[in-house]
Amino acid sequence: MLGKEDGKVRIAVLVSGGGTNLQALIDAQDKGVIKSGEIVLVVSNKEEAYALERAGKAGIKAEVVLRKDFDSQASFEERLDALLSESRIDIVVMAGFMSILSGSFTARYPDRIINIHPSLIPSFCGKGFYGLHVHEAALRYGVKVTGATVHFVNEIPDGGRIIKQKAVEVMEGDTAETLQKRVMEQAEWIILPEATEEICAEIARGR
Ligand code: GAR
Repeated sequence: MLGKEDGKVRIAVLVSGGGTNLQALIDAQDKGVIKSGEIVLVVSNKEEAYALERAGKAGIKAEVVLRKDFDSQASFEERLDALLSESRIDIVVMAGFMSILSGSFTARYPDRIINIHPSLIPSFCGKGFYGLHVHEAALRYGVKVTGATVHFVNEIPDGGRIIKQKAVEVMEGDTAETLQKRVMEQAEWIILPEATEEICAEIARGR
């Protein structure tokens, strides 16, 4: 169940890797860019995710939920749901979370789960397009402009309503790595915190 309380909107961040987007959210909270919400929980589906250390350094409760510890996607998602309920989470931010959640999970949180994707949706998105693969595909296609998108999460991978997008130029000689870095610096780390604050402010207003 979604929390409905006074005070700050309670944010959970789902991660799988380095957690630079989580860091951008933490920094935005420190700087007051995120002021309507507070990150109270980080959940990783990978034990080795550096994002867990970032959560620890920021004093945020962190949990690991591994798909392999559960017989089914449904029981994995039940555990995730239980963690969100225990922390009375209002909004879930997927920040480099490399696992596709089922329609029955996302339906429990309508307009309350957002995701950052490293391209301008509807280009280079959907199943199989994650992390560096997205930038490899953009370079292979030869686009001159790419970017990042924050969108709501529903049952269609990368198919939910778009909240924010920012374009980034592709440069001559780019590799997937250099392009990924530019997209993160010029788009992801800016629009994810902005969108998070916008949704939190909207939730807070509706209380
Ligand atoms: C980010 O580029 C994020 O947009 C992407 O993975 C990276 C995670 O980096 N997400 C996806 O591709 C989701 N389809 P981070 O762990 O350093 O934030």
